[in-house]
Amino acid sequence: MAQNLVPPHHIAIVMDGNGRWAKRRFLPRLAGHKQGVDVLRRCVQACAQRGVGVLTVFAFSSENWNRPQEEVSGLMELLAKALSREVPQLLRDGVQLHFVGERAGLSDKVREGLAQGEAATAHNTRLVLNVCFNYGGRWDMAQAAAKLAARGEPITETSLNAAMALAHVPDPDLLIRTGGEMRLSNFLLWQAAYSELYFSDKLWPDFDDAALDEAIAAFHARERRFGKTSEQILSAPSALARA
Ligand code: FPP
Repeated sequence: MAQNLVPPHHIAIVMDGNGRWAKRRFLPRLAGHKQGVDVLRRCVQACAQRGVGVLTVFAFSSENWNRPQEEVSGLMELLAKALSREVPQLLRDGVQLHFVGERAGLSDKVREGLAQGEAATAHNTRLVLNVCFNYGGRWDMAQAAAKLAARGEPITETSLNAAMALAHVPDPDLLIRTGGEMRLSNFLLWQAAYSELYFSDKLWPDFDDAALDEAIAAFHARERRFGKTSEQILSAPSALARA
């Protein structure tokens, strides 16, 4: 990784390709998801080591309920098991866990595991890990608007932003999607407005530290203009300070 460069503060990832990884090995799709959990564990540690402050991952979308029942229940079971197994390591690594998504519709066991995992890691400060589960960007915008309407509050960009499920973190700087597809699939529709998008052909179970470093290097090569011109960005005091 390039030296002396500030890492993206917030990285978001669509962990795509578990099914294809398993299929290529003549394994059931769930074997790919299991491998995906191992890679996620490694990715959390790699992000913490690189000074990333927030990692947000898409683990189960509002639309994933439409998958075969066996895969859906397998993913629920995987989450419940991962929560009980991984929390001690998250504690050691200084990771603060947040569940982002609609809890209604999840089993009591999963809901309890999520609440316990969040409570146990609440005081950690090294890395915030947001696991988006039963999450969709449209759901988030709708629930935020409904919350404001119920309180009789005006709907503005600021109030909506504060009512969203990811209000506890700044917007992602870098959004990675693995698996070769180039779409958002209802992930962070509001928060990704100015994220740098990076698409990797690697399937998620193959996404290793080197692949993460490539994504971060690509991020560093981008010029983030936030609607301004290149000249404005280059003449800004912060740009001069960096030079
Ligand atoms: C998309 O790959 C992946 C998912 C729908 C699940 C992602 C989950 C993990 C990586 C495991 C972490 C999960 C928990 C429970 C913490 P895909 O199945 O769509 O792959 P394909 O495009 O190759 O079929």
